[in-house]
Parts: sequence; C-alpha cells; structure tokens
Amino acid sequence: MKTYKIAIAGFGGVGRATASLLLSRRVRYHQVYNANVRLVAVCGSRSGLINADGLEEEQLDRLEDGLSGPGFIEESGADVLIEAGPSDFRTGGPGLAYLRSALSAGRDTIVISKGALVHSGKQLRDLARGSGAMLKLSGAAAAALPTIDLVNHSLKGCEVLEIEGILNATTNFLLDAMTTRRIGFDTALHEAQQGGFAEADPRNDTEGWDTACKLLILANFGLGTDLTMDDLTVEGIQSVTRDRIEAWSKEGLVPKLVGSLTRVNGTVRAKVGIRTYPLSDPFANIRGKDKAIRIITDAMGETIAIGSGKEPLATAAAALKDLDHILTVRAANPLSA
Ligand code: HSE
Repeated sequence: MKTYKIAIAGFGGVGRATASLLLSRRVRYHQVYNANVRLVAVCGSRSGLINADGLEEEQLDRLEDGLSGPGFIEESGADVLIEAGPSDFRTGGPGLAYLRSALSAGRDTIVISKGALVHSGKQLRDLARGSGAMLKLSGAAAAALPTIDLVNHSLKGCEVLEIEGILNATTNFLLDAMTTRRIGFDTALHEAQQGGFAEADPRNDTEGWDTACKLLILANFGLGTDLTMDDLTVEGIQSVTRDRIEAWSKEGLVPKLVGSLTRVNGTVRAKVGIRTYPLSDPFANIRGKDKAIRIITDAMGETIAIGSGKEPLATAAAALKDLDHILTVRAANPLSA
C-alpha cells in the first residue's frame, strides 16, 4: 500500500474543514485506492503543525508559532499540497509562493484560493507541465458547483460554444433578497456578511470581481485560453436600485449577476454583468446563495448544473474531489514507479 502525504497551507475555516474531512475519509481512501493517506503538515500565515506519522483531529487546534511558509511544506515531504490561503487576485496573495514552490518540485497541488491562479495562471500551468505535477482547482472555480469538471470530464471531447454562470453566492443572495423580499441593498449585504459567505471586502463580490476570477479560471484552465483581467468586461450590482428591481419585476424578469464566455470567430470573449431572465428560465429560479452554470456545446447541447452546498464543508469536499482525481491517476501511475 502506498502512503500519500498531504499538507495544507492556509488554515482558516476552509483549510480547517478540509483537514477534518480528509481525516474522516482515511478509511475510504484505503478501501477505494489502497492508499494510506496521512495529513503530515498544516500551516497558517505564522504557525503550523508537522508530523510525518500523520496528524490527528484533536491536534489541529494547537498550532505552533514559526511553522509556516513554502520551506516548511517542503520540509514536510508532502506528496500533495492543498492551498487554502486568503485570495488576492491583484498580487497573487500568499498562495502564489506556496504554489510556485510545490509545482516546481513536482508536488501535486490542489488549489482552493483563486488569487494566484488569476494572477499567474500561465506560469503555474507551465511549472506543472514542466515538473509533471498535477494542478487541480475545483475549489477555486465555484467549489460546490461543478464547473471545470463538467468541461474536462462530463463534456469531454465536445466543443464548448458558450458558458454562462451565476458563480457568486453573495450577489445572487443580494439580488434575490432585493427581488423577492423587497429589502434594500445594504440590509441584504449585512445579511450576507453575517452569513459568512461575502468576501472580507464585499466589493470583490458586489463589483463582480469574484465572478470574474472564477470565470477567468474556468476559461484559462477549462477552455485553454490565456485571458487576463484586462480582457474581461466587468460590471457589478452595486448600482442596482429598488426602482430598477421594481421595473424588472413588472416585466416578469429576474436579474442575476452572470459571468459569460462566448466563442466568437475562434476567440473567447469573457464578460461579467447583469442579465435578466423570464421566470420560465432555470436561471430565474436560482435562489439565495445557490449558484448555477449553463454550458452549451456543439454535440451535447445545453447542460445545466445547480450547486447549493453548505460552506465550508462544500468547498472542502470540492478540494477533496480533486484529491480523488489525483489518487485515481497516481494509484495507476505511482510517483515512486
Ligand atoms: N464570496 C464568494 C461568494 C465565496 O459569495 O460566492 C468565495 O468565492
């Protein structure tokens, strides 16, 4: 039986939930992949834990100062890094150094935070290709809503003609609350912040940037484009007024903040903005903080998925779905072979 050593960098709510879910699935990994999966290291920005024999759940609340950084992960000898740190698409965030280091070393990597993928996606893809490391990112591409896996697995071989997605929980929650409960923007935003799903700076949600990040990752890693933020048109929902909501309602239309990718003469155009849908459209009925994606392909027509997982468990599960993909490949082609 092969041992797979896992490290987690970024130990906030999602990193912590991922660690717990991973530990609870160890028997399953053994049964399904004949794999001994060990959590050998976890770290936040300043502290961490390391144990080559594997950490246990009850140890995870006692992080030690000074155990952090790409060198710490290197030292742990992990086969797989799960990166779950804070996301900053303008700088790449702290995740960027972890990802560069892991991918250069040929370590299979699962990314949950979006920042580094948006900021330096091409470089990270090249590093992975060069070293043979697997780079998986379901957690960064709308997590509980399958997006990249639909393109890469479920619709494999088809040409994607168009994608549109309600990819951000906060803006869907706000527009839904304003439309169905008639509450104001600020009240709805306060509820989203209380619910813990709005970004630390909610303008990243309301101005469309979180949707844009997910869309860009989906385009670059799912459709093979090489887009940067400058290639996207991004509009948010910050100027939507009660009057505008009323006017749409009178026309029987439901507003959604949507990210869209369209193939025009061989190139992919990407856009984030409000679209309105009649009640007969499934997108009109995506409620609260649910998300949805519609993909149109040449051969399989229209595919729609709706995601409504509870966080942070759902994002943790999306990341560990990637670990299952890695184990499927590595169990057949072990690194040590
Ligand atoms: N703030 C994001 C959302 C969650 O509302 O969907 C993380 O991507």
